[in-house]
Amino acid sequence: MVARVISVEPFDIVVFGATGDLAKRKLLPALYEREVAGQMPADARIIGVSRRPMAQEEFRALARESVEESDPHAEPEALARFLKQIDYVAVDALSDEGWGDLCQRLSAREDRVRVFYLAVGPDLFDDICARIGASGLVTKKTRVVVEKPVGKNLESARAVNAAVGKVFPEESVFRIDHYLGKETVQNLMALRFANALFEPVWNHAHIDHVQITVAESLGVAGRAGYYDTAGALRDMVQNHMLQLLCLVAMEPPVSMDADSVRDEKLKVLKALEPIDERNAQHVTVRGQYRAGASAGGAVTGYLEELGANEPSNTETFVAIKAEIGNWRWAGVPFYLRTGKRLASRVSEIVVAFKPIPHSVFDGNAGQIMANRLVIRLQPDEGVKLWLMIKDPGPGGMRLQHVPLDMSFAEAFGVRNVDAYERLIMDVVRGNQTLFMRRDEVEAAWHWIDPILDAWRASREPPKPYTAGTWGPSASIALIERDGRTWMDDA
Ligand code: BG6
Repeated sequence: MVARVISVEPFDIVVFGATGDLAKRKLLPALYEREVAGQMPADARIIGVSRRPMAQEEFRALARESVEESDPHAEPEALARFLKQIDYVAVDALSDEGWGDLCQRLSAREDRVRVFYLAVGPDLFDDICARIGASGLVTKKTRVVVEKPVGKNLESARAVNAAVGKVFPEESVFRIDHYLGKETVQNLMALRFANALFEPVWNHAHIDHVQITVAESLGVAGRAGYYDTAGALRDMVQNHMLQLLCLVAMEPPVSMDADSVRDEKLKVLKALEPIDERNAQHVTVRGQYRAGASAGGAVTGYLEELGANEPSNTETFVAIKAEIGNWRWAGVPFYLRTGKRLASRVSEIVVAFKPIPHSVFDGNAGQIMANRLVIRLQPDEGVKLWLMIKDPGPGGMRLQHVPLDMSFAEAFGVRNVDAYERLIMDVVRGNQTLFMRRDEVEAAWHWIDPILDAWRASREPPKPYTAGTWGPSASIALIERDGRTWMDDA
């Protein structure tokens, strides 16, 4: 099946941090793939910006390398077309150096969409935005993309938002959370709101609990410096996992219009029951990996990867029992867990329905398991609905729990589009539906901050777990004392 591609209007994208990891691994390959898909207008321009002086050709060679690394079968013609669109300007975020050059490059195309992509640390957002503003580079069609983390607590998030907001109106600010650009995450909305089947049972009367797992098998190698200042709660829960929770829990929005969707997500964030010193000990678990095995080989522990002399209290694993205090979800726990160096790389949402109220079958039928809906984000994206069916053949009524299995790769046979491809094109189109609004980011921090405070006050170090396992045993106890279990096999 061939995916339908709608090309976008001509644009200039200025990537700050163009020689950094994100640009190299995600942004340049994503733009190349859009070229292959035929979505890039012929005269689109990609202007790489960083402090380092570099000739255009040198940056093009770097871009070629990134594309070839991410796609070893890159198409030579598409790659040549793509590289032609690339330019480079050395600009210093902290002085006037290079800004004149950048203005000159952009001035000829005042009327087209202009995107500033800030693929830099948040400490530079303020200066870069201020200089973009002072250099008169903000036109009617200018948009700014802000990478996470937006702050490291509510106070700093507000400061970042205020700094960006001084130069850009909220309609031009695109706070990216790449989980919202994942195919299956969008499918969650299709599943809920394009089918009549689920919505009537999507509430506390029929759903027992929800599990959201984002497990990674990799450690923090290469990013330990940043990671140690963040930890799993800030790095994954504050953004990706809470966004997933919101999409599962939100009320149907009036439309897919950005504010309608974001209004509903915001209501969920505001309805989260607080976790603080009174209950953090009981409903959260933090862990840190020790040496173990991953992908068949021995791997070192977090502290060795960090290479610090001092022990670190940063968590590389977190599990939380979250609750939403509203009419729809009262009494339905949302169990969240995420970590590095876990047993496998799997991200999925499990919606566990309540068991049947009464069985009409005798003991020979076997155990009747509750239905569950599994939305798998990665790998093998797809949706499974677990049902009870009769074992085929004669011999009486024996029941089995089996999945109605819809694997997207098998069903559609199309390439898995990376989240960044979709999201960058949404920026060009000016569609903010899959981006976080200022109040959403702040509401998420409002819920996260007291958890961080409680951990700090308790002075308890994170619980150790062996790399290659499912995290500390306390996270199993967290769910099992409620009579439930993590569904790793789903
Ligand atoms: C990033 C986090 O936002 O998401 C990383 O900073 C994490 O620590 C990554 O590894 C996971 O993204 P994905 O798309 O590989 O699941």
